[in-house]
Amino acid sequence: MMVCEYKPGLDGIPAAQSSISNVDGQKGILEYRGIRIEELAEKSTFLETAYLLIWGELPTSNELAAFEDEVHSHRRIKYHICDMMKCFPESGHPMDALQASAAALGLFYSRRDLNNPAYIRDAVVRLIAKIPTMVAAFQLMRNGNDAIRPHADLDYSGNFLYMLNEKEPDPLAARIFDICLILHAEHTMNASTFSARVTASTLTDPYAVVASAVGTLGGPLHGGANEEVIEMLEEIGSVENVRPYIEDRLERKAKIMGFGHRVYKVKDPRATILQNLAEQLFTKFGHDKYYDIAVEMERVVQEKLSHKGIYPNVDFYSGLVYRKLGIPTDLFTPIFAIARVAGWLAHWKEQLEENRIFRPTQVYDGKHDVSYTPIDQR
Ligand code: CMC
Repeated sequence: MMVCEYKPGLDGIPAAQSSISNVDGQKGILEYRGIRIEELAEKSTFLETAYLLIWGELPTSNELAAFEDEVHSHRRIKYHICDMMKCFPESGHPMDALQASAAALGLFYSRRDLNNPAYIRDAVVRLIAKIPTMVAAFQLMRNGNDAIRPHADLDYSGNFLYMLNEKEPDPLAARIFDICLILHAEHTMNASTFSARVTASTLTDPYAVVASAVGTLGGPLHGGANEEVIEMLEEIGSVENVRPYIEDRLERKAKIMGFGHRVYKVKDPRATILQNLAEQLFTKFGHDKYYDIAVEMERVVQEKLSHKGIYPNVDFYSGLVYRKLGIPTDLFTPIFAIARVAGWLAHWKEQLEENRIFRPTQVYDGKHDVSYTPIDQR
């Protein structure tokens, strides 16, 4: 048997062969099924991008209309799921609420028919349709209100903002939110996607696949950094404080949130698009002083850390966009999950097409032949 070098975090070790997305970290390129992210952000919608990721090709107008209709008609969640969510503690984190609710879908749609394309499509539609409804429902319920029903006349993103804020969103705000979902929909073999593929490889149901990925996304080293960026901007408080804040952190060898990436060694292309979206929102709805702090941070970090390839990542400007859309900080990661469910489902489907259960090995460095010590002699 070939002996492989142990790499903590499986750094650089391929976990799958995949044709879903590609990152060139030197050139700052991200492609979904070969299409550049900039082009999708400009021309596509989240549902069309989800279709592209999951079925591998852009849909025809009939295929897209059919998919949108199916998703729209499955947006409601069952009373039993609402009743269950009402019992969640209002102080609980919305990611934990989402993980529990996603897993609960498996109780209602438990039939497992993984070789049947109709079953796959049904599960894809249900998960893409219901995850936003569950995120919005928990937000209302934790504030003591009943969840509101999806709005029949609003599209995917407009409806989510409507269910969250109980009022119809401005069309520009809804479009910008939809672009944010496109940008977060997929990103090669990150931790939550790996988690989804491992769970999928056991041939369990897709609700368990998504629930395990949601649990993985919730950690601060993965999906949680955008919350911390906002906290950092608030702590800095003014443009003048930027330089001393950065110098102090670098002296203490502390990381600056929203900067750096394992793969990108230039500015993350999604950060460039998000910065532009933030500017569009400020032009229409008023400036945010934290944006000036962010721009100054980018300038100072570039001056001090560009030689190490440290530039803004996707989390640096996304929080400013969500803040301007009136979204509470602890919903930033659930919103990441709403988008990433498209990527997870694409990987679930790809994993099933040529499945082999994940069963890596380990390097054992423990003891051997230890004799059992009776309890009174320990
Ligand atoms: N601030 C200051 N220095 C940094 C930063 C940063 N944000 N990121 C990396 N460095 C330095 C690091 O100190 C090290 O320097 P040296 O070689 O002198 O010791 C060098 O750059 C390499 O850093 P690393 O930690 O080995 O790089 P990594 O590839 O293991 O980590 C990262 C990537 C994203 C975990 C890291 O850059 C980081 O912690 N960034 C801040 C948190 C953050 O913004 N996370 C969001 C990531 S993108 C979304 C997602 O994946 O979910």
